[in-house]
Amino acid sequence: MTLLRIEDLDVHYGDFQALSGVSLSVDHGGSLALVGANGAGKSTLLRTIAGAHPATGGRITLDGTGITTAPPHHRVRAGIALVPEGRRLFPSLTAEENIKVGGRAWPLDRVYDVFPLIARCRNRRAALLSGGEQQAVAIARALASGPRLLLLDEISLGLAPAVVDDLYDVLAVLRAEGTALVLVEQDLARARAAGDHLICLLEGRVVLATAAADAPLEKVISAYFGTSQ
Ligand SMILES: Nc1ncnc2c1ncn2[C@@H]1O[C@H](COP(=O)(O)OP(=O)(O)OP(=O)(O)O)[C@@H](O)[C@H]1O
Ligand SMILES: [Mg+2]
Repeated sequence: MTLLRIEDLDVHYGDFQALSGVSLSVDHGGSLALVGANGAGKSTLLRTIAGAHPATGGRITLDGTGITTAPPHHRVRAGIALVPEGRRLFPSLTAEENIKVGGRAWPLDRVYDVFPLIARCRNRRAALLSGGEQQAVAIARALASGPRLLLLDEISLGLAPAVVDDLYDVLAVLRAEGTALVLVEQDLARARAAGDHLICLLEGRVVLATAAADAPLEKVISAYFGTSQ
């Protein structure tokens, strides 16, 4: 059953059109990997789903309810949480204080069960955490609102592969518990492994939409660089 449906979405920054006619859907508990070159519109798409940037055309529905013009806090209550590009933690607050900013739908015990890594540094200021710990806190902050749909923008950025593996293990646990995911990931192999479906954006348009398992890497790469026939 469909959780998120996006139909013919347009998004502008002033006169510049960043997304053109984007359509996609994500099932309850499903996962969609979003790939594309720098500037393709991936973050814009996640931010528009979360309500941080307005749509200029098209329609977004969550569980059949229109949310196209709903303010961000309504979308959080409806079950959408964004882990933004660059983490955006409050550096002078502790890990735990940052997590509490996200909400109280998940008790802290549950957060620490999923992320034992953070339990160990819960009282340390975010500025003093490692990159991996900071990213874990950013994900935990999103979980604190109790999302049914988690939007993740380049969680791998700047992290060692082993740390990224640990984060993706956590995402697998969340999926097993029924949380749907839309994840932006620059590592194409990882994107194909983590998503049931994969979409490639090129200059704001969907140029490839496929079941992830059916997408040969060469086909994804040529969509990514806009060299498909
Ligand atoms: N605040 C803004 N004002 C004007 N243009 C913007 C703004 N944010 C993004 N853009 C433009 O919109 C387009 C899409 O940007 P976006 O950040 O969504 O791309 P992206 O796919 O996430 O790229 P990256 O891989 O670099 O994170 C780009 O051309 C970018 O320059
Ligand atoms: Mg981006």
